[in-house]
Amino acid sequence: MIELTIDGKVLSAREGASILDACRAHRIPVPTLCHHEGVEPYGGCRLCMVEIGHPEWGDWTGLVTSCLYAVKAGLVVQTGSPKVVEVRRQLLDLLLAQAPAAKAVAALARSYGLTQSSYAARDPENKCILCGLCVRVCAAQGPCAIAAQGRGAGKYIGTPFKKEPDACIGCLSCAHICPTGHITYAETPAGRSIWGRTFELLRCGSCGRSHITVAQRDFLTGRTGLGTAYFEPCAECKRLESAKRFASVGTPAAGSIQRERRDAQ
Ligand code: SF4
Ligand code: SF4
Ligand code: FES
Repeated sequence: MIELTIDGKVLSAREGASILDACRAHRIPVPTLCHHEGVEPYGGCRLCMVEIGHPEWGDWTGLVTSCLYAVKAGLVVQTGSPKVVEVRRQLLDLLLAQAPAAKAVAALARSYGLTQSSYAARDPENKCILCGLCVRVCAAQGPCAIAAQGRGAGKYIGTPFKKEPDACIGCLSCAHICPTGHITYAETPAGRSIWGRTFELLRCGSCGRSHITVAQRDFLTGRTGLGTAYFEPCAECKRLESAKRFASVGTPAAGSIQRERRDAQ
């Protein structure tokens, strides 16, 4: 563990942790849109900017993205200095123009006193802030079905050549992780549709509910080496089954616990 100062308080942090990790461990709020504990940080939204200084650096202070910058002994961090607030306002001004339909962006912008962007919006319906979370979660799981396409102002998240992605398994991780609700999907008795593809759903053998897709089961079977039977029951039925197994093993009688305690004293 090392010690650093955050917002005037001397706090401890795990060596190698990011400043954002340290802030979160001590319940110090830092806004983020592109961060998720489950995937590698990327520094896409820049909203987690904080101001840092160090006794060894004299008067110098700088702005860094806290999700990418590792803690260091003696570091002095300010999460809400005037410079930090100003840069976050500028970023939110840009994000509001980039994704005018994103409610999460609008809510954050309001908390910094911005109700509308000073820039012209290119697409009033757009919700994507190009944070890359969806791409990273898809890659972390293995399919790598989506990516950033195009360049500059024409950049967007999508499937290669805007075609139905062969690699997609319909797991919905990208849609669930998206902070702005840009990725849409539909679930009907016919199946689950996302990225232009419709996937057959797998029904739980016990309760009959649809849970994962058949493509997801096949992908997980190949990746884990577990048989297809492992993925047939839904998570809820698996939990119930384990609970029943524990209950059938039983617990030691109260008398024997008391005897063990007496023997231990
Ligand atoms: S639904 Fe398809 S694109 Fe989205 S994370 Fe799963 S595999 Fe990737
Ligand atoms: S679709 Fe969502 S998660 Fe993906 S880059 Fe856009 S805002 Fe981020
Ligand atoms: S959370 Fe750090 S850049 Fe987005």
